Amino acid sequence: MASREQFSSKFGFIMAAAGSAIGLGNIWGFPTQTATNGGAAFVVIYFLMAFALAYPALMAELIIGRHSKSNILTALRGIAPNKATRILGTGVGTYGVIIASLILSFYGIVAGWMLCYLAESVTSLIGWQAASEWLVSFGFERNIISMGLFMLMTMSIIASGISGGIEKWSTRLMPMLMVILVGLIIYVMTQDGAAEGLRVYLLPDFSQLKPSLFVDAMGQAFFSLSLGVGTMLVYGSYLSNKESLPRLGVMVTLVDSGTAFVAGLLIIPAIYVAKQYGANIFTDDGQLIAGPNLIFQVLPTLFESMGSIGMLVALAFFVLMSIASLTSSISMLEVPVSLAVEETSLSRNKATLIIGTLIFGCSTVILLNFDSLFDFVINLTTVYSQPLLGLMLCVFAGWIWHRNNLLQELKAGHPEIEGTFFWKVWPNYVKFVCPLLVLITLAQSVAG
Ligand code: PHE
Repeated sequence: MASREQFSSKFGFIMAAAGSAIGLGNIWGFPTQTATNGGAAFVVIYFLMAFALAYPALMAELIIGRHSKSNILTALRGIAPNKATRILGTGVGTYGVIIASLILSFYGIVAGWMLCYLAESVTSLIGWQAASEWLVSFGFERNIISMGLFMLMTMSIIASGISGGIEKWSTRLMPMLMVILVGLIIYVMTQDGAAEGLRVYLLPDFSQLKPSLFVDAMGQAFFSLSLGVGTMLVYGSYLSNKESLPRLGVMVTLVDSGTAFVAGLLIIPAIYVAKQYGANIFTDDGQLIAGPNLIFQVLPTLFESMGSIGMLVALAFFVLMSIASLTSSISMLEVPVSLAVEETSLSRNKATLIIGTLIFGCSTVILLNFDSLFDFVINLTTVYSQPLLGLMLCVFAGWIWHRNNLLQELKAGHPEIEGTFFWKVWPNYVKFVCPLLVLITLAQSVAG
């Protein structure tokens, strides 16, 4: 058998994992959730959830992944010591692969919109009126073409493999993303109204604290760190034994939540700058506009009112959104593709083509039944399935897998692990605390 591909460096892994984690969830989801949920009060709860709940779950995925050197399904089946747990592993693994694919099927639609708005900033620059109008009007044709184009980009990266595809593109695109993000923040901060946005973002309003915020923050943290569905597990499986997993995990969590926070410094002030320009930024019941209307109406109105520089700002913004989407979508597609490559005789190219086409089919079904399916699929996958799967992965790491194997895996790349705070706390934490916290939070959301 050919030796299994790996990330060629630690930097490559961090860029790939950060690329997966940093996506629409950070740049769009986090800032708007914060603005509508009591500003900094939500930020505090979010960081709590990210480090107290998502980081330990991320570690479970990385450790199982690197130990098993395989996709989520094979990995969970492999660490199960008996028949019953093997069946459970098969069930959880299959569920994870399906959810990863379903996430991609709605994510690809949204990413396609980003491509349209990106193209529109160019067509309006050169004065192609009709094309511009087509690109920004919601329609089946536009949606399916842009989603298909985005899927093709995702597929071509995944077909090129780990170091030649995922790593190569993540290390190219992620630094670009950071530069654009910082550049846009600096520009927006110079505009009237930005200070008001900063206040809304950064001043905590604890009167808005309610139990449902914890559910929202947990869902957001699991989504943002790409947890539960085997993306981090499979990325961990391409990691060399020389690397210290707890350190890499901290780094990825920090970069992800840090970027979410920084993205808030762009989006919320930008909304208030748009208000200065006369855009309506509140819904009828007084809430800040947060859904698609924010990205596809409020912000474009802002770009338009800025005159010719606005076109450049729009271009930069939608390049940013497209990059963020692409480095995340490749990690979603890698989940089913790695399974197919490892468990069947299909080549990576063929597996990518077949699975990519299937997911394109799912997205098409969603587009054809947009009103009934779009929100439904998002809720099913991100609000319920991801935390539930994350919980199951903690159960596998804490209860089903032998503690000694855990220790051996952690020792690779971190020989002194036994004396660390991490080893003293994490095994029991992932065994008792994480599952309990996820359950309580999920019960809340079912009850609420
Ligand atoms: N973390 C990505 C984001 O924030 C989304 C994602 C979810 C990626 C699940 C992979 C798996 O947008």
